Amino acid sequence: MSETARLILDGKEYEFPVITGAENEKAIDISKLRATTGYITLDYGFKNTGSTQSAITYLDGENGILRYRGYTIEELAEKASFLEVSYLLIYGELPNTKQLSYFQESITHHTLVHENMKSFFEAFPPGAHPMGMLSSMISSLSTFYPDSQNPNRSVVDIEKTIHRLIAKLPTLAAQAYKHNMGHPIVYPSNDLDYCGNFLKMMFALPTEDYEANPIVESALNKLLILHADHEQNCSAATVRVVGSSQANLFSSVSAGIAALWGPLHGGANQAVIEMLESIKEDGGNLQKWVDKAKDKTDSFRLMGFGHRVYKNFDPRAKIIKKAADEVLAQLGVDDPVLDIAKELEQVALNDPYFVERGLYPNVDFYSGIIYRALNIPTDMFTVMFALGRLPGWIAQWKEMHENNEPIGRPRQVYIGANERSYLPIDQRG
Ligand code: ACO
Repeated sequence: MSETARLILDGKEYEFPVITGAENEKAIDISKLRATTGYITLDYGFKNTGSTQSAITYLDGENGILRYRGYTIEELAEKASFLEVSYLLIYGELPNTKQLSYFQESITHHTLVHENMKSFFEAFPPGAHPMGMLSSMISSLSTFYPDSQNPNRSVVDIEKTIHRLIAKLPTLAAQAYKHNMGHPIVYPSNDLDYCGNFLKMMFALPTEDYEANPIVESALNKLLILHADHEQNCSAATVRVVGSSQANLFSSVSAGIAALWGPLHGGANQAVIEMLESIKEDGGNLQKWVDKAKDKTDSFRLMGFGHRVYKNFDPRAKIIKKAADEVLAQLGVDDPVLDIAKELEQVALNDPYFVERGLYPNVDFYSGIIYRALNIPTDMFTVMFALGRLPGWIAQWKEMHENNEPIGRPRQVYIGANERSYLPIDQRG
């Protein structure tokens, strides 16, 4: 017999189906709640609300488990390439040799962006935040590919849009960086793989030969995999909601980039390094900053600590911490900011305030340290996150369409003024 949940309202009993997920997660299906009872649920920040049934990513925050399509993040970060993981997320299975080579070729084939886009970059002021540029550029791709504007075209057309987006995001990200550096853009190289090509577009100069350091390339591959999806987070939920209005993929992902930018989400990686630098400049008194974070009259939070779903540890942070140690040792980088990060972690982890609230370092705490070691400037950190998260956004958008999900449109409890009459201006207080 299937389980049901009983709800008593105004003395009347109602029954709602209980849904059980593949990993025994339980949900009460309240989709008929308003129609049958007249009530809605109220859940600020959707802390208890499942917005969909998804087969992409499994996350167990209590036990620090993260799996893409059933594969653990640990195994994928160790063994896979970012494009393999992208294929897995978007199409549901790891590609065989033929599928991977077709996917890689198609992505390589689409890396160039229209030359007119150069004039968009020229119009941005020097020092423009690259996330602002990236979000605008991705949205503008829909104007170059009018066919992409109908998200219900054939599977082949949608696939082309998906491949274009994966191919062009690194090109545009690198161009945003070059714009701020005042350097000429570097066109994509079809003989390089995804990470190698991106690094070349970022760091090659017309004055010298460029070859990516394999340590850097491998660290980048790992970081992108670790960021590739995280189920219904703020930006993925944004992509799904925007896409649910039948907005095209480019615009939906552009909205996801905007959502990621905030310091409480992906923007935290930039905020972490800025915070660590401020602590260093302030003399390195860690306790002072920890006390500030605990002070409820102070809006300061320890950036890189805490997570909506991970309350014991963030499995990605564990992998990144190890990778950061390895990369810094291999590249011979001695970063005092890393020492502050390590000390801060210890102070916070031993403080009852952080322990009681389950506040542990998240993925953003250590990713910035690696990006610094790879010579990526601080304001590009969230762009790096966006590069990694792209296949997740695409997979979420595609699944939402394939499920024929309705337009996302939450309800509210109105608490404003009751009906009142318009007063002429001279009678208002
Ligand atoms: N520093 C100090 N206190 C914190 C922090 C922090 N970083 N994070 C949470 N708290 C406290 C809150 O003040 C609250 O305390 P209270 O119970 O006394 O009121 C309690 O911990 C619970 O915090 P909430 O804000 O309710 O938790 P929520 O799940 O809504 O927020 C979030 C999660 C946004 C990540 C939060 O922990 C935060 O702001 N962290 C810092 C920013 C950050 O690192 N973001 C990156 C997240 S990872 C990612 O998006 C990839």
